[in-house]
Amino acid sequence: MDKLFMEFKEVLCARASVREYADEKISREVLERLVDAGRRAPSARAVEPWEFVAVTDKEILRQLAGLAANGAFVAAAAAAIVVFCRETKYYLEDGCAATENILLAATSAGLGACWIAGDKKEYAQKVTALLGAPAGMKLISIISVGVPVQNIKQVKRRSLEQVFHWEIF
Ligand SMILES: Cc1cc2nc3c(=O)[nH]c(=O)nc-3n(C[C@H](O)[C@H](O)[C@H](O)COP(=O)(O)O)c2cc1C
Repeated sequence: MDKLFMEFKEVLCARASVREYADEKISREVLERLVDAGRRAPSARAVEPWEFVAVTDKEILRQLAGLAANGAFVAAAAAAIVVFCRETKYYLEDGCAATENILLAATSAGLGACWIAGDKKEYAQKVTALLGAPAGMKLISIISVGVPVQNIKQVKRRSLEQVFHWEIF
């Protein structure tokens, strides 16, 4: 149990957004494992509203990069996992939980990944159309994935003391 906890803590502390990638491919099997982590997320009333599109085609990655305002780096990624949800009451929470699971799984596999915003973005419908998803699907996130080129930099975080409140706010 201790060992399991340590392994999880290492992954948790190692995760960071990675936006630069080596020119190396990632296999379908690895991408399936990342999506397998995503689909294990909790979802409200266990509705599992998610669908995941794994993209490795360079031209489609380039087009995704052209659409996603702050995601130009996806063009140089080995892959993107695009997370969609059908519109349920808690689709956004469910899809975000799945997205975080995928980011942690990518870190655990020694890969670099970055969450690129989807829901609320004006390009959401264009991404939906580009990937041939049904019109009513909500774009949750585009997750770029690749082999990191350099040591992963951690963003400084607020301390535990700053965010932890005991009994009352
Ligand atoms: C909802 C959401 C949307 C995000 N959208 C983008 C994005 O469009 N482009 C990007 O480069 N990073 C995006 N990020 C990544 C954040 O910038 C990043 O998580 C934050 O700077 C903290 O850094 P860290 O992930 O390395 O800890 C997004 C993260 C979240 C949670």
